[in-house]
Amino acid sequence: MRVPLIYRDQPVFGFDIGSRTAKFVQLHPHSGGHQVTGYGYANFPVDAIAEGIIADPERIAQALKPALAHPFAGQISARRAAVSLPVAKVFTRILRLPPMTAADLEQAVHFEAEQYVPVPMNDLYIDYETVKASLKSAKQHTDVLMVAAPRAIVDSYIKLFDLLGLEVDSLETSLAAITRAMISANRSQRTSLVVDFGSKSADLAIYDQVIRLTGTIPIGGDDLTEAMVKSLGISPDQAQEIKYKFGIGDSGMQSKIMEAIEGRLTTVVAEVKKVVKYYQERSEDKAEVGTLILTGGSASMPGLVDYLYKALNIPIIVGNPWLNLATKKLPKLDKLEAPMYTTAIGLALREVQA
Ligand SMILES: Nc1ncnc2c1ncn2[C@@H]1O[C@H](COP(=O)(O)OP(=O)(O)OP(=O)(O)O)[C@@H](O)[C@H]1O
Ligand SMILES: [Mg+2]
Repeated sequence: MRVPLIYRDQPVFGFDIGSRTAKFVQLHPHSGGHQVTGYGYANFPVDAIAEGIIADPERIAQALKPALAHPFAGQISARRAAVSLPVAKVFTRILRLPPMTAADLEQAVHFEAEQYVPVPMNDLYIDYETVKASLKSAKQHTDVLMVAAPRAIVDSYIKLFDLLGLEVDSLETSLAAITRAMISANRSQRTSLVVDFGSKSADLAIYDQVIRLTGTIPIGGDDLTEAMVKSLGISPDQAQEIKYKFGIGDSGMQSKIMEAIEGRLTTVVAEVKKVVKYYQERSEDKAEVGTLILTGGSASMPGLVDYLYKALNIPIIVGNPWLNLATKKLPKLDKLEAPMYTTAIGLALREVQA
């Protein structure tokens, strides 16, 4: 979703607003590997965002301003941002339409949106792009990726950016940005399942040339921490520390931690299986999912990769979005913090790759 603006040639940075952490990355275009010029993150109170709408932009702006002015590494000099929208609140769908003129296509997309999206059309911003197809199938049909975002959410983001003294250049779902970062860095050729395991949810995308399907499971890393607080009778800070340190990997506490969070993990696995099955039943050639690309802050939890591999039997790559980026002269990034920036990097890549 492009916000029409005049200064097209000004630099843009990637700005990912999560449930309680915003991450930002600026890249400088470079042949053979873009240079990172700055990156960082800031936490904000979780209740400042409600149902995807930024309810308290002043509080978030207050938390973000110092982090943007003095990021963890380098500098954020751009005043325009490519911004992510929460997957759970945005409707995306691939529409298969007969070949038609551009004007007819616009009408057809709006007509289809009315059928599929359970929200009044006046409350939405609708955008679409044609998906590249082989020459043969392009004669028979056009696949169009439709995105419908609630106006209340988009308008609340624009208000926040006003307060930050920044402009919104473009908006897309976090999964669209993540697949760009992952596929660009890991060059996966096979049908992939991308899982963004964040703080409040695990978002999923099936990717084969384009995003074919998305889903969201309302369980994230914070739910695992909360389950440990309840079951082990410890404080949230202690629970988080233990989760980061031991996770569900080998340790003296493994069985206790597992007991606390296994219910949540089993639900995540069951939902992932459902999405894969749904996709396979509907895809033309019953495509196998060849890899699971795991990302988001919770991807760093010790033992998670082994657990998911055993449960799903799909080879797992913990996506490293930094692979093809140059970070010369910047302080070294903690390996465990790498997956957290995937969305912000994908957003920044949209601009430098275009
Ligand atoms: N090393 C680690 N081990 C275990 N969990 C971790 C680690 N690092 C971060 N997390 C967890 O990752 C979550 C934050 O991830 P992320 O920054 O991707 O979320 P978010 O983008 O703010 O949220 P969401 O995508 O759900 O809106 C938190 O629940 C945090 O506890
Ligand atoms: Mg996120």
